[in-house]
Amino acid sequence: MTHVYFDHNATTPLDDKVLAAMLPYLREQYGNASSRHEFGTLARKAVNQAREQVAASVGVQPAQVIFTSGGTEANNAFIKGAAGMLGPSQVAVSAIEHPCVAKPAQELARTGWKVRKLAVGRDGRVDLAGVAQALKEPTGIVSVMLANNETGVIQDVAAVAEKARAARAWMHTDAVQALGKIDVDFNALNVHAMTLSAHKIYGPKGVGALVLDKRIELKPLISGGGHEQGLRSGTENVPGIVGFGAACELAMQRMHDLAPRLAEMRDQLERGLNGMGAMIFGANAPRIPNTSYFTFPGIEGETLVIELDKAGCAVASGAACSSTSTEPSATLLAMGIVPVLARGAVRFSLGKDNRAEQVEEFLNMLSATVARLRRLTAIAV
Ligand SMILES: Cc1ncc(COP(=O)(O)O)c(C=O)c1O
Repeated sequence: MTHVYFDHNATTPLDDKVLAAMLPYLREQYGNASSRHEFGTLARKAVNQAREQVAASVGVQPAQVIFTSGGTEANNAFIKGAAGMLGPSQVAVSAIEHPCVAKPAQELARTGWKVRKLAVGRDGRVDLAGVAQALKEPTGIVSVMLANNETGVIQDVAAVAEKARAARAWMHTDAVQALGKIDVDFNALNVHAMTLSAHKIYGPKGVGALVLDKRIELKPLISGGGHEQGLRSGTENVPGIVGFGAACELAMQRMHDLAPRLAEMRDQLERGLNGMGAMIFGANAPRIPNTSYFTFPGIEGETLVIELDKAGCAVASGAACSSTSTEPSATLLAMGIVPVLARGAVRFSLGKDNRAEQVEEFLNMLSATVARLRRLTAIAV
């Protein structure tokens, strides 16, 4: 079996159509979008078109889109930028945020902010009663992700936003893992800010966006020449931005066919997993259609991932975004999963080019690998 990729939550391959849209801006149309001459004007037009494409994918006006170097920067730009405008109070973020939300929030403690982790239940969903309780204290910033990168569990962001607005806090959602997999509507979610990233939707790495309600003002994370309405200085990454725009448009065109196809393959996988005695995290919560996160009690996730890779399948263990760490997943610990089980976690995330036969082959390979590891390892649970 050739190598089969089931790690689309880590990153996706660049779509051929996205690459084709980018190429002219990597070659002959190399102008600086701020230049007044023809080269610059062409680059500016391309950036503007991409801004419209990204805006349309989440139902906002183009002026609400601030291009960044990716999801990490957009999350930092919001948390730090909001804190730069508001006096210190409470910053409340879910206990399962990506580190690029969790860490900047944590850093605010040094400047007098009280950092509050919003608890999740065993199903991986944020506990709304807990949010209401937390927001009884004066709160400036709330951030709850739309879909979790590990479990794929979808949060009721609109319900959290309603509570945040009632408490007069600024509400942000990291929608990086949701875009292209479920409908993402900025206004319906009722948020003040949203983070997006291109490389999770078959676009290039190193480009993303912070989508903002125009009524809120942030202190820029990066200052300089005043690009992106003064919120993110630096010469625009024109090819990257063009690729992001094209990827958004393609994602919107294909989502309604793709999502049910991904869900069908995910269900096929999970029928097999259940038959083998796996435990599936967040299985009963609403989830994005491409993700399954599971463990075989007694088997280390890391070992399973390495063995599967040798056999020709790329999946992820624990928190793939920080796979250098051997700590059990913070998301699973927050869900009340004991560390010994959390250490067994394996994430399988499908993409548009996967097929049912590949899932079948994966299940066969997994079954053989699990049987072999069960004979070899004797980790007590
Ligand atoms: C939920 C979530 N937020 C943010 C990021 C970071 O995005 P980027 O890789 O564009 O910095 C990721 C991806 O790793 C993610 O999964």
